[in-house]
Amino acid sequence: MYLDKKSVEIWLSYIREFMNLYRWLSEAFVLDHFVNKHWEQLPLAWRHFLSQLSPSQLGQWILHGRLSENVSTPAPLALECLRRSAEVLSVDRRFKPRVCSEKETAITEKQRKILNLHVKPKKRHEIWELSFLIQELADKSGGIRNVVDVGSGLGHLCRFLSFGLNFTTVGIDSNAELGNTAGIFNEKIHKNFQKLRSQTDASKPESENFEKIQHLNQFLEAGDKIVPNYEFGLVGLHGCGDLGGIIVQNFVQNPQVKFLSFVSCCYMKLTQGYPLSNYLKESRIDLPYVSLELSCHAKEAYMERLNDSDQVNKLKIHCYRAALETILVKKGFAKEGLRSVKNTHLLGFKEYAVKATEKLSLKLSNEELECKENEKMLQEWMKVVCFYTLRVLLAPVIESAVLLDRALFILENEFTCGLLPIFDPVKSPRNVVIIGMK
Ligand SMILES: C[S@@+](CC[C@H](N)C(=O)[O-])C[C@H]1O[C@@H](n2cnc3c(N)ncnc32)[C@H](O)[C@@H]1O
Repeated sequence: MYLDKKSVEIWLSYIREFMNLYRWLSEAFVLDHFVNKHWEQLPLAWRHFLSQLSPSQLGQWILHGRLSENVSTPAPLALECLRRSAEVLSVDRRFKPRVCSEKETAITEKQRKILNLHVKPKKRHEIWELSFLIQELADKSGGIRNVVDVGSGLGHLCRFLSFGLNFTTVGIDSNAELGNTAGIFNEKIHKNFQKLRSQTDASKPESENFEKIQHLNQFLEAGDKIVPNYEFGLVGLHGCGDLGGIIVQNFVQNPQVKFLSFVSCCYMKLTQGYPLSNYLKESRIDLPYVSLELSCHAKEAYMERLNDSDQVNKLKIHCYRAALETILVKKGFAKEGLRSVKNTHLLGFKEYAVKATEKLSLKLSNEELECKENEKMLQEWMKVVCFYTLRVLLAPVIESAVLLDRALFILENEFTCGLLPIFDPVKSPRNVVIIGMK
């Protein structure tokens, strides 16, 4: 469960080598598919192999390395190496359900129903799993009962920890409106617990836990002091972009923080705090925006889409966008931000192109939109999907570079650190938690 410094350094050195080898793939914008002739960049044997696969066969091969019997040509060795190396170099994302703890079974169905108020099913799963991990870390840290949740949003995690598990929680968020709504939800849940308490066992203390939650409006930056002046666990759920680095630094620098449990998201919003470790500062793994954006794609959820014909149809949007880009490039509008168009898969290319370019000061003629060249590109939509699928294969490796860098920063500061898959990756793609202990 815990990592050691030397192994993480070696792991990162392999990822560096891998990323350097496949930069041509990770840094290829899908909208440039035809402009930059992506398909032609693939070795012939790869093209031959990929062309014979149906979308679901492609998904099966990418995710599990399995090929059905009716696939006549096996994967070329170099391509199989890419698939397998990406798998081996990525932090484990396979979710293993926990053994139920006593605390977990102590929460009744009725209490659970109250705690789930205003929480979407995906978030319920995340909050349930993360809360019991926090409980475990708090117990291991000598029974800490205070938690600070940074990027607390609507306060769902704080509420579960306080009402469900008896922690004293402080939620910090830069968005005051979210904090205010969190306060309203707290009151509602408090009332529901009071009602439940009056109907059932009067000795249960849940309603007092209302006083145990506080919401602060603060934009946390690296080096900022976090308010409580007692020992606490620092936690966060899907704190976006820079928040991950800020929290990890706070864990290391703040002696009051006794443990860390943080799940990141939106790596493309990273502007600072990468790399954090001395090791990567000395020999970097460069991750430009296009790679960080790719790292947020979920391999598992994407493969489910490849298995569903309706969903596959929707992937045609990538081909439409790439075909439109060839026209835009000719007219001097390369990589312009376009209007997002709903239900593209139900539209013809011409209709899509007109809607998408509505905001631009350009006129597209019928000849430009209905030419043979476009038809040819549109017939190649599955090649666009194949190339894009190869890129998705790299996503977990890029995420691993960011997560391992943060882990290494903790290890370099001589604290204990681990990376664990705590959510089902199909339900919740950003599913790896970084934990730290002092
Ligand atoms: C993706 S939301 C997650 C909210 C919540 N934890 C959840 O899982 O529903 C990230 C939250 O972090 C907050 N945030 C981002 N950067 C922050 C910072 N530097 N300081 C405080 N809050 C921040 C945002 O306002 C947003 O509410």
